Amino acid sequence: MEAAHTWPKDVGIIALEIYFPSQYVDQSELEDFDGVSKGKYTIGLGQSKMGFCSDREDVQSLCLTVLQRLVERNNLSYDMIGRLEVGTETVIDKSKSVKTVLMQLFESSGNCSVEGIDTTNACYGGTAALFNALNWVESSSWDGRYAVAIAGDIAVYATGNARCTGGAGAVAMLVGPNASLMVERGLRGTYMCHVYDFYKPDLSSEYPVVDGKLSIKCYLRALDNCYQQYRAKAQAVMDREKNGSVFSLDCIDAMCFHSPYCKLVQKSVARLALNDFVLEANPDLTGKYTGLDQFRHLKLEDTYFDRDVEKAFLAASSQLYETKTKPGLMLANQVGNMYTPSLYGGLLSYLASKPASEMAGKRVSLFSYGSGSASSFYSLRVSTDLKPGSPLNRLVGSIANLEDRLAARTKLSPPEFDSVMKLREKTHHLAPYSPQGNPDALFPGTWYLTEIDEMYRRKYARTPLHSDGRGDVAEGAGSVEASEDRKA
Ligand SMILES: CC(C)(COP(=O)(O)OP(=O)(O)OC[C@H]1O[C@@H](n2cnc3c(N)ncnc32)[C@H](O)[C@@H]1OP(=O)(O)O)[C@@H](O)C(=O)NCCC(=O)NCCS
Repeated sequence: MEAAHTWPKDVGIIALEIYFPSQYVDQSELEDFDGVSKGKYTIGLGQSKMGFCSDREDVQSLCLTVLQRLVERNNLSYDMIGRLEVGTETVIDKSKSVKTVLMQLFESSGNCSVEGIDTTNACYGGTAALFNALNWVESSSWDGRYAVAIAGDIAVYATGNARCTGGAGAVAMLVGPNASLMVERGLRGTYMCHVYDFYKPDLSSEYPVVDGKLSIKCYLRALDNCYQQYRAKAQAVMDREKNGSVFSLDCIDAMCFHSPYCKLVQKSVARLALNDFVLEANPDLTGKYTGLDQFRHLKLEDTYFDRDVEKAFLAASSQLYETKTKPGLMLANQVGNMYTPSLYGGLLSYLASKPASEMAGKRVSLFSYGSGSASSFYSLRVSTDLKPGSPLNRLVGSIANLEDRLAARTKLSPPEFDSVMKLREKTHHLAPYSPQGNPDALFPGTWYLTEIDEMYRRKYARTPLHSDGRGDVAEGAGSVEASEDRKA
């Protein structure tokens, strides 16, 4: 048992689970359907496929599915959880939280002693939920049980240039001590401000109001500010350790970002390289910064849409991008912008890209951005415990089938996608309502909406698991063993 006055050891993410829809639309086919120039979505934005939900799914069903998957596949029981946080911007009720709907899963355990409710600010809510969970475990309120943070959203846009940047999904994170992904203490950079770049003022519609170009500028400005704070804090740690080194991106092994579309993430890596270059007192102009001296005295604020700067730093950071960021873009490229889960889909993609032995001890940075705006840059350390059955091995094993799961989805044509969008639009917030989508099209073990009654009460059912209990193709289930800290 931890002494009351000390922090529990190695607090962070112990296990991760993801859910994405069983159907998608191909972005190349969508280019033809939308009549845009060939390559705009696939090359210009860097997207291949976009997951979407029929009227059988809402944010609550997504979160029910991902939480139950997390509990079942890690052999947890619901009374082991003392805090449950949900981050979402898919608000379907102005009062009742998604978290309270998830409490249905706890009923048979008799555990109603579960703190936490929902957190909302565009795509940042998942990070706020995770921070709340981490902070609880490190606080005097912690009672020794696990926390779970869930990020879930359905990202849909009105017809027009933003529609291709949609997506949907949910991620559940098991939080506690002795984690496989330990959050680095004291290394958070945060930037929040008031801006109308993307918001949802029309409560009768699922669609946001978007100023696309402004949102890109706000994202990059937030990245600059968060990274500069993170960088200064990381440098202070290095100075305290007196190792004489200068902090730079070389001190980070993998970089994950919130991904509205993959091309913006590639530009974000270039942006971080530009920050390093401008902030470094003595940049090596004959080494990694060769040919960049003309950009030495730029004001970052003037460069958000400067093509010359962008081109030069995209080239200068291409190796960084290929090795440290691209492996984390699989889900963003294949599912699209899931909103709050997007960043954590990036983390999952990175973890699925290598054997555990290649990731042990590595530092992974995460940049979270939610329009409006709220943003943070922080980092995790991957555990070095590679013993058979260690939390890290179990975590990596549990997501080894991510590519198979993506490949098991069904492709629908753009006209079919369009008619699903029209149906969702027409029936959004109707009561009473009986959904029309086919539940048989969902993955095994998926919660879905069966009915909305005349009092707007939503009822759900779950598609059967495989006869052997599997929730999808080629399951690799992990199991979280009770830790000494948790038993405290
Ligand atoms: C992202 C968004 C603004 C793009 O909309 P748009 O103005 O129609 O797109 P653009 O005309 O700028 O084209 C996008 C990119 O594709 C490129 N492109 C266009 N046609 C192309 C083609 N045929 N082949 C290759 N590239 C192409 C453009 O040059 C542009 O590249 P750039 O970003 O390097 O300038 C829009 O989808 C949106 O508002 N999305 C939602 C908000 C969002 O995701 N914001 C991000 C921050 S949170």
